[in-house]
Amino acid sequence: MIKEVIKKSIEETFGSVNFSVEHPGKEEMGDYSTNIAMVMAKQLGKNPRELGEELVSRLLKDERLMEVVERIEVAGPGFINFWIKDRILIEGLKEMFGKDGHCLDSDFMAGKKVLVEYSSPNIAKRFSVGHLRSTIIGQALFNLYRHSGAEVTNDNHLGDWGTQFGMIIAAIEEKNLEVTKMSVTELENLYVEFNQRIAETPELKDKAREAFARLEKGDSSARKIWQECIGVSMKEFDEIYRKLGVEFEHENGESIYEKIMPGIIKEALESEVAVEGERGALIVKFEKDGKEYMPPAMLRKADGTTTYFTRDLATIRKRLDEPDLKSDIYIYEVGSEQTLHFRQVFEAAKLLWEEAKEVEFKHVAHGLMTFGGEKMSTRKGTTIKLEDVIYKAGEEAKLIAKNEVTDNSAEKIGLGAVKYNELRRSPEINYDFKWEEALSMEGNSGPYLQYVYVRTKGILGKLKNQKLEIKNEVRLNEDERRLASWLVLRIGEGEMVESAAKNFAPHLVCQTLFELSQKFNGFYDRNRVIGVEEQELRLLLVAVTGLVIKSGLAVLGIETVEKM
Ligand code: ARG
Repeated sequence: MIKEVIKKSIEETFGSVNFSVEHPGKEEMGDYSTNIAMVMAKQLGKNPRELGEELVSRLLKDERLMEVVERIEVAGPGFINFWIKDRILIEGLKEMFGKDGHCLDSDFMAGKKVLVEYSSPNIAKRFSVGHLRSTIIGQALFNLYRHSGAEVTNDNHLGDWGTQFGMIIAAIEEKNLEVTKMSVTELENLYVEFNQRIAETPELKDKAREAFARLEKGDSSARKIWQECIGVSMKEFDEIYRKLGVEFEHENGESIYEKIMPGIIKEALESEVAVEGERGALIVKFEKDGKEYMPPAMLRKADGTTTYFTRDLATIRKRLDEPDLKSDIYIYEVGSEQTLHFRQVFEAAKLLWEEAKEVEFKHVAHGLMTFGGEKMSTRKGTTIKLEDVIYKAGEEAKLIAKNEVTDNSAEKIGLGAVKYNELRRSPEINYDFKWEEALSMEGNSGPYLQYVYVRTKGILGKLKNQKLEIKNEVRLNEDERRLASWLVLRIGEGEMVESAAKNFAPHLVCQTLFELSQKFNGFYDRNRVIGVEEQELRLLLVAVTGLVIKSGLAVLGIETVEKM
């Protein structure tokens, strides 16, 4: 990596000082910049600019460095700025071109394992906007780690257990309904209705409790209804996953943790991580020096049933034990309303198990998405159905496209718009969904990037089978250089993927691609590509831009179209 060459040269020339090498804020300031002169000047009590000049003269003697660097200058209060050689940038472009879909890969996670848990809808409940957010962001995180050299797996932590199934079973038995003929919405309504009736007729609560107890004991009629609820729900959810292009390697629902929970409860009691709370419940307290640093969590209710918390602890146990799940980083993409829950779960795991301290648990929390300022709620029946969003997205996309688009392309544009709109901001941000924003052809949107890709295709299509034999001593003009530097140093070197993965932040990919598009448009507006002396080099820039947009969008789970 070019950045590493600079870092290493500085380190070897001046010893291990705490310095940084970054991209300067302005392009006129070069490709990289270091603060080493300012750091050393402080230590030595010298003038940073003068010291900077001294350091530069020593760096200029480093042959390895001077193979990649064209120019080194002191600027501002004492920054040292570096300009990379045109030849190196051109080589970088060619290399990217040859790597195809891997042109943006990093290897910073080589040899590491990552598990991403996302989507995780609940059986017999509708797939909510929150689950949609989790699915889109989670899939992007999964892809990012795939492109970072890690071995990655994913798990859909389905909500298929809990006392609410007692209510559903009781309601179905009471009305003698045929579950296989019902939709998820109908199942959910059944639950909502039963819940409301409990308020008037408290005895129903016992009925539900009794039904859940039967389910736990393996009673065949209760099990059958439960299985059918899973079947009905998964059929709908799988259709959503197919549309979104999401596949899971593991779909371990909460129910499978039933068996390992008794052992965990025992272990927690023996190690005194869990204690008996009021009225016979078992709780985990989080205290240090007699002070509570988090509210306690419930491991087992007074009536003997386990909780969501218990199941999440059991999930960690299984993920630490099983080779195909065991990882260095465990990512949970779940709404921010569960932040405390996950803090408690991760902390309890660390109190219980040494291995849990050696790995990283990360809750990537998404915020709230509203429509027209209103929160959607299944209870109030104000959720919108995902299928409607996808259909509407396709219809809207047809309106913005300049050319005729097929239904297939329209769906890709529409879905791309929805996904990109979700991914372009940091997950925890709350936002109001607006079609104008998602479909904007001027701004930071999916269709905007898809259109830039179509533009690159159009240029390249004019010249088929063009061999790109560029002489390395070609000089780049300013537009070419800016574009090449962005492509090679921000993306081709793996930087975009690395920083997005490290920060669990797919929006950094969006930002980098959007800026790339703006640079590309600037370049293309001011420079002719076809029929000029620089044709080959310019075609290479166009080709690599197209490739990066296609591959970058793929990381975000978004497809490109050939025409729009
Ligand atoms: N099913 C839960 C819900 O819809 C989300 C599960 C999140 N994952 C977990 N390990 N708790 O709220």
